[in-house]
Amino acid sequence: MSRLRIRNCGPLQAELRVQGSKNSSLPCLAAALLHPGTTVLEGVPMIEDVATAIEILRALGAGVWTDEGRITICANDITNTRIPVQYMKKMRSSAVFMGALLARMKNAEAVYPGGCVLGNRPINFHLEGFQRLGCDVAVQEDVIIAKTSGMTGTGIKLPFPSVGATENLMLAAVGAEGTTMIENAAKEPEVIELARFLNRMGLEVSGAGTSKICIRGGQKTHDIHFCMSGDRIAAGTWLLCCMNAGGSLWLDNVPVSWMRSTLSVLEQMGASLRIDGTRLECTAPQKIRAVKHLKTAPYPGFPTDMQSQLLPVLCRADEDSCICETVFSSRFCAVRELVRMGARITVDQEKNLAWVQGGVRLHGADVSAPDLRAGAALVIAAMGAGGDTIIDNFYHIERGYERITDTIRILGGEACWIC
Ligand code: EPZ
Repeated sequence: MSRLRIRNCGPLQAELRVQGSKNSSLPCLAAALLHPGTTVLEGVPMIEDVATAIEILRALGAGVWTDEGRITICANDITNTRIPVQYMKKMRSSAVFMGALLARMKNAEAVYPGGCVLGNRPINFHLEGFQRLGCDVAVQEDVIIAKTSGMTGTGIKLPFPSVGATENLMLAAVGAEGTTMIENAAKEPEVIELARFLNRMGLEVSGAGTSKICIRGGQKTHDIHFCMSGDRIAAGTWLLCCMNAGGSLWLDNVPVSWMRSTLSVLEQMGASLRIDGTRLECTAPQKIRAVKHLKTAPYPGFPTDMQSQLLPVLCRADEDSCICETVFSSRFCAVRELVRMGARITVDQEKNLAWVQGGVRLHGADVSAPDLRAGAALVIAAMGAGGDTIIDNFYHIERGYERITDTIRILGGEACWIC
């Protein structure tokens, strides 16, 4: 069943604990393959993408046990180096298992990864990086076969600070002899979290969070117990929900220092924010101010993963707004569905810009989630709209948001599955 009816119940007056970070948990789950012993991860969100990562670990021979947000992985015996097609096609992050497999087993086989369709999403930087480290990479039909008789540390300069390529190459490079320097590396918090995890495991990674990451390969690993940070995108999603529905929201487990650009945009829009450690209170303004021109950008810029969720809120702003997407070639897929709810948004495909007309109140409609974050944008829209909204293909949203129907109810909305 994947159709959810949402009814907005007016201004929020709620408190919510933010889930653990999806995009940090996935590469750390892959990194568990590096250690022929036990890894325990705490605070992992129980979402579809994590379930897929667990299935991949099991298919490769690892033992995995889950207990709420705690995952125990025992990777003493890795018996398989082929990642099953059905899991590769489910999510983009499946690709980072290749780097870990190369480091541990010197072999990795997989088809091209699936995941949200945000325009062209090649993995050429990952594969070229593997080759620089001394792997043979062959592509037969859709199958990528990577193998090595031994990797050697080297310099790798990424053409773009790709998050996935940075993570994948960090994972592969820990298995190389000598030192690898990744230049133009992604600076995203998820890369910092992966580096922390690898260091806690006994490996040597420095520079994460800057554009140069240095990995000294060939180090011994040991058992590790690691706690994931809060999810900055989930936190931002619920803050925007508050902006759209009105009222106020207390969030706990917020990685505040990793959310500066999002919080600054919220303040520009009129939000009143109160921060106390990892707790954050947001009070929505009576009138939302438009965002004249905002560009998404790699960290520390405004995250592309927050762009879709911003659109429904800007519909009710005092003036028109303009958003430019610079990370992905086609990430305005929420627009078509928001238009069904009354939004007046036009997209310039060539310039990758969306013009959002302000002063528009959205109404409930039958819509369909095109991908994870565009789906989250529809939830936000529904929570501030007049009347019922029915969101089809809701499973896209469940890939990234833990117990989302419970969350909608905590926020004061009504959520009910329909056939
Ligand atoms: C990660 O995707 C995130 N996913 C995405 O979050 C996020 O939108 C993205 O980083 C950017 O922040 C995970 O962490 C699981 P990229 P990733 O490689 O690694 C181009 C969400 O909603 N590129 O940084 O796939 C690519 O086409 C998801 O949670 C190449 O050309 O993103 C894109 O234009 C969606 N060749 C740009 O780089 C490559 O080999 C950035 O992609 C790799 C990337």
